[in-house]
Amino acid sequence: MLKVENITKFYQKGSTKITAINDLSLTLNKGEFIAIKGESGSGKTSLLHTIGGLLRPDEGTILINKHDVYSLNKNERAAFRAEQIGFVFQQFHLIPYLTVSENIAAPLIAKKLKIGSRVDELIEKFGLSERKNHLPKELSAGEKQRTALARALLFNPQILLADEVTGNLDPGNSELVLDSLREFSDNGGIVILVTHDESAASKADKTMTISNGILS
Ligand SMILES: Nc1ncnc2c1ncn2[C@@H]1O[C@H](COP(=O)(O)OP(=O)(O)O)[C@@H](O)[C@H]1O
Ligand SMILES: [Mg+2]
Repeated sequence: MLKVENITKFYQKGSTKITAINDLSLTLNKGEFIAIKGESGSGKTSLLHTIGGLLRPDEGTILINKHDVYSLNKNERAAFRAEQIGFVFQQFHLIPYLTVSENIAAPLIAKKLKIGSRVDELIEKFGLSERKNHLPKELSAGEKQRTALARALLFNPQILLADEVTGNLDPGNSELVLDSLREFSDNGGIVILVTHDESAASKADKTMTISNGILS
């Protein structure tokens, strides 16, 4: 279970204080797939980063299966994040000098773990067999996003955080990525998809709106 309790996040820009997230609470149970719609600048990315352990809120707590994410020290939090949380971004964030299979396996390599059959399984699942030795620059946007999704699912996380993941994709690949999010939630995972795209949001079980850091 994910429990976001009264989180607030400020940014200081010169003398201006920006409230990116404003006293936001949200509880999601296993298998829930929620879409959060919001205009550019409404706080979507700040919210996902905060939930995912990448950005400490100024107020409030994030509980994942009763663990208070920000009470863990930096190393513990990094390990927790790697195992429990999958991130997918609009800009893919692939490592440019690694191949598709190396990008998917990167979290294993970083942990000095053996590359087992899981990587091949994901390559197969996302239709990347013919591309596994390609570099990101040799891929289409859809192939890049499928690679990023495979990497995010490597450790069977509990939560998948998807930031405008269909923003750079054609309709076919958007459908495929959204179907994968659905499948992940059908298997018990929690999905938060943030988007300004109405049709992408409609794939979720529930849609909420964020505006000026306030969720409704
Ligand atoms: N690092 C930062 N420094 C200052 N302001 C920021 C920073 N990141 C985001 N913001 C501001 O916080 C607000 C929310 O941003 P963001 O979470 O990126 O929104 P979204 O993802 O919905 O576009 C915006 O007003 C944005 O300009
Ligand atoms: Mg954003």
